[in-house]
Amino acid sequence: MLIIGIAGGTGSGKTTVVNQIIDELKHEEVDVISQDSYYQDTTHLSFEDRKKINFDHPKSIDFDLLGEHLETLRSGKSIQQPVYSFKEHNRTGEFIEIQPRKVVIVEGILILTHPEIRELFDIKIYVHADSDERLIRRLKRDIADRGRDLEEVLWRYQTTLKPMHQQFIEPTKEFADIIIPTNRYNTVAVDIVQTIIKDRLS
Ligand code: C5P
Repeated sequence: MLIIGIAGGTGSGKTTVVNQIIDELKHEEVDVISQDSYYQDTTHLSFEDRKKINFDHPKSIDFDLLGEHLETLRSGKSIQQPVYSFKEHNRTGEFIEIQPRKVVIVEGILILTHPEIRELFDIKIYVHADSDERLIRRLKRDIADRGRDLEEVLWRYQTTLKPMHQQFIEPTKEFADIIIPTNRYNTVAVDIVQTIIKDRLS
């Protein structure tokens, strides 16, 4: 099994990179695991209190469960992954079963901050985009898909996203084997990753 970690700030284009990488792979060859599925269970808090959680701090992620799940997949067994709701800021209580596959891609803003999780990755990738580009993408997505308004997104960006990005996310670039810039169209880096995957699969 090949485990690939893809980090990068919010709105950096991680999802696009993941989709380009898996484009030539068969569905049954790859799992894509999002860090978002591993936000801590916050059922004990009220909705108002959950809204105040700092979702860009490493403490907000249940890395123990993520690590356990990656080890389980690696041992050839399936996992029950919690489903997360961005509208509720909480796990929904549902689970989806994920089967072990030859390639496991783990994507998320904070996945390279945790030393033990970093150790599990065969390839570490950091996706880079300028912060203005990231803010624009984040604004569009949160308003269109995550039930937020302009004021809330800008408030979160200034008070949390930007400082957390500078403190925790950007520094993990130094752990990356490959840094992919997404400000412009880039195929070379994706080709390299696809070549490594094909090599491992053959
Ligand atoms: O998809 P992306 O990597 O951008 O997702 C991570 C972002 O999701 C974080 O920047 C965090 O602020 C945001 N988030 C949120 N509401 C939650 C949980 C995470 O806006 N309930």
